[in-house]
Amino acid sequence: MLELIDVRAGYGGSRVLHGVTMRVAPGEIVAVLGRNGAGRSTLARAIMGQLPREGEIRWQGQSLTSLAPHQIARLGIGYVPETRDVFGPLTVMQNLWLGQRAGKARTARPPSAADRALTLAQAFERFEELAPRRDAPAASLSGGEQQLLSLCRAMMAGPDLLIVDEPTEGLAPRVVARIGRILTDLRASGVAILLIEQKLSLALSCAQRIAVMGRGTLVFEGAPDALAGASAIRREWLEV
Ligand SMILES: Nc1ncnc2c1ncn2[C@@H]1O[C@H](COP(=O)(O)OP(=O)(O)OP(=O)(O)O)[C@@H](O)[C@H]1O
Ligand SMILES: [Mg+2]
Repeated sequence: MLELIDVRAGYGGSRVLHGVTMRVAPGEIVAVLGRNGAGRSTLARAIMGQLPREGEIRWQGQSLTSLAPHQIARLGIGYVPETRDVFGPLTVMQNLWLGQRAGKARTARPPSAADRALTLAQAFERFEELAPRRDAPAASLSGGEQQLLSLCRAMMAGPDLLIVDEPTEGLAPRVVARIGRILTDLRASGVAILLIEQKLSLALSCAQRIAVMGRGTLVFEGAPDALAGASAIRREWLEV
């Protein structure tokens, strides 16, 4: 379980998050929607320890607030940033090896936790688009393939929590649907997923709960059905 209590964070003197409280449970996708600049990526960076932050962030009962990014990454938390985390000059396979190494560096895995770490064979089975490209430099892949590689790399370590920042931005509808299915399968295996998104349709179809962020606070939290019915919230905080 990921728990955020009154989390505040920002850049230098300017505060962006003004007290965010939320939870993500195992086997649940929580989507965070919001307009450009609402603070969603800042929330992801605050959880991952990349920014000074106040308030409380807990993962499986342990406080993350005073840990450094490399320590947080070893606790079974996978992060796919909005920049798509692939190393262009390295091949697809080398990128996946790096993800596997991150998994081996992992420290505190509770003995009861399912071991979801992937072998290369399993990765290419699950991400069949990547198999024929295994020896190609990541930079030569299409945008959609790079996003799949970035996701797959994060999954190599078998995270129990995955934070994914706008995985579908700029991608064709077919790839968007594919990413939705991958996240849904992952959730079904018990992973907790924090999905930062722009696309209301994807959030409605794969999340169990939706949070809407506006100017650094949550202005809505509830089930997809509740947001589908809350047209005033959608007009004020989501639609352009
Ligand atoms: N590195 C940074 N330094 C200073 N300010 C930043 C930095 N990154 C983001 N900001 C500011 O923080 C605010 C929130 O940005 P954030 O990236 O969290 O938004 P977002 O919700 O992810 O939106 P989007 O991804 O659509 O741009 C914005 O006002 C942005 O200008
Ligand atoms: Mg962002």
